Amino acid sequence: MEFSIPACIGESDDYSISRTCFMSTATIELDGKIQQLPIVIGSEGEKAVDISDLRAKTGYITLDDGYGNTGSCQSNITFIDGENGILRYRGIPIEEVAQKATFIETAFLIIYGHLPTRPELRHFSDLLTENQYLHEDMKYHFQGFPTRAHPMAMLSAMINAASCYDDGLMHWQWGKGKQFEVYAARLLSQVRTIASYSYRKSCGLPMIYPKKAYKYTANFLHMMFSMPYEDYELKPEVVHALDLIFLLHADHEQNCSTATVRMVASSQANLFASASAGVCALWGPLHGGANQAVIEMLQQIHASGDDGSRFIEAAKDKNSNKKLMGFGHRVYKNYDPRAKIIKAASEKLLKVLNLSDPLLEIAERLESAVLKDSYFIERKLYPNVDFYSGIIMRAIGIPLDMFPVIFAIGRMPGWIANYKEIMEDPHGRIYRPRQVYQGPAQQSFVPIEERG
Ligand code: SDX
Repeated sequence: MEFSIPACIGESDDYSISRTCFMSTATIELDGKIQQLPIVIGSEGEKAVDISDLRAKTGYITLDDGYGNTGSCQSNITFIDGENGILRYRGIPIEEVAQKATFIETAFLIIYGHLPTRPELRHFSDLLTENQYLHEDMKYHFQGFPTRAHPMAMLSAMINAASCYDDGLMHWQWGKGKQFEVYAARLLSQVRTIASYSYRKSCGLPMIYPKKAYKYTANFLHMMFSMPYEDYELKPEVVHALDLIFLLHADHEQNCSTATVRMVASSQANLFASASAGVCALWGPLHGGANQAVIEMLQQIHASGDDGSRFIEAAKDKNSNKKLMGFGHRVYKNYDPRAKIIKAASEKLLKVLNLSDPLLEIAERLESAVLKDSYFIERKLYPNVDFYSGIIMRAIGIPLDMFPVIFAIGRMPGWIANYKEIMEDPHGRIYRPRQVYQGPAQQSFVPIEERG
C-alpha cells in the first residue's frame, strides 16, 4: 500500500465536520485486482485510509480487535497526540485550559466550539441554574434503590428516568429550535443533582437542594455534604481542585464511553439515553472505574506492608491477573498530560489542607520505580488520568464508589458535544460494525427427543 500526494483539507465552520477533499489514494491489491482507496488527512496531519467502500469494491471487510487502528468518525472537538502526550480541547492545550478556565467555560468550549463571551457564559450559567432541579417525583425512584446500590448504577438509571418527566425530550427531533441548548444544560446540571442524591441515599441522609447563588462545582459540594441544619464550608481550594478534576475529564476523543454515546446517538436515540449508556461504559475498571481501582490497589499495597515492589512484579506476571491500575493507555504512549496536572494539584491540596495521605507516597514510589522498569518502558506504560485523581477525591472526602461518578460528571460535556456532532453530520449513518463469522456451518434442528 503506498501513499501518494497528500490530500488538501476542506475548511469548516465551528459546527460542521471538516470534510477533506480526496487527492491521494492508497493502492491495495486483493484477489489479483488493484483498488484505490481514498486517503483522509486530518488538520493535525493524522492519516487514514477511507475504507467506506471497501466491501462494495472488494467483498472484504477489515478486522481490528478493540478498534485500535480504526477511526469511527472525523471530529472537530478534541485532539490527542499520544506519542507526544498532547491533549487539546478545540485546539487549546489542556495545560492552558487547566490554568485559565473553569469547568463550565470548558464545557461551553467543548460543546459549542469556542470560548464563551461574557453574555454567552451568563446565558449558559442561567440555563444550568434554571435546569438544576429534578422533578420532585424522582425522589420515589431513589427510595426504590437498596442502600448499597452502586452510585454508577443509580446514575445511569436516573439519567434515563429524568428524561421521562419531559415529553418534549422524549419526542424531540434534532434541529427543532433551541431545545438542544436547554436539554444539554439540563443534562449537565442534573447529572450533579442525581449524583449527590445517590450519595445521600447511600448514607441515609436527606436530599439537599441546589442553591441558586452557588456556581456549578460549589453547588455540587453543597448538595453532597451540607446538612439541613448546617451548610458545608466551601473552601475555595477544595472547590477549585474538584473543578479542575471535572475540567480535566471533560473530553478525550473516541474513548470507550464516548464511542458508546456516539453508537447510541447514531440510532437517533435522545441525548439522555445516549449519556445513560455512556455511564455504563465508563463504569468498567479498565476505563472510568480505574480511579476507584487505583485507590483499592494502593490501599491493598499499604495494608500488606509491601513497598510496592511485590505488586509491580505481580503486575508484570501475566498469570497474576493483576494490572498496575492507573497505568497504561490505548493512545498515550507517553505521560498523560492530565496526570501531570492532577499529581501537582493533589500535592498542593494536601498541603493547603494540612493533610498527609500515605497512599500518595505509595503512588509516587510506584511511579518512580515503574518509570525505570524495562517491562513498563518497553510497553510505554505511563501514569494516566486515573492514577492520582483519587488522592484529590479522598482529600475532599468523596467516598470511593463515587469516584467513577465524578469522572462521569466531568465527561458529560464531551458526551454532549459528540452527541451534537453526530446529530449535525448530514452524512451521519447508524453505527453498525460487521464481523467475521467463525461459528458452525449450516446444520439442521435436532428435536429434543434425539438430543441424548
Ligand atoms: C481511561 O481511552 C481513553 O481516552 C480513556 C481515558 C479517557 O479519558 O477517557 O483516558 C480514561 O480509561 C484511562 C485508562 C484507565 N485504565 C487503567 O488504568 C487500567 C489499567 N490499564 C490497562 O488496563 C491498559 O493499559 C488499558 C486498558 C488502559 C489500555 O489497554 P490496551 O491499549 O488494550 O493495551 P494492552 O492491554 O494491549 O497492553 C499492552 C501491553 C500488554 O502486555 P503484552 O501482552 O504486550 O506483554 O501492556 C500490558 C499488557 O499486559 N499492560 C499492562 C498494563 N496496561 C497494559 N501491564 C500491567 N499493568 C497495566 N496497567
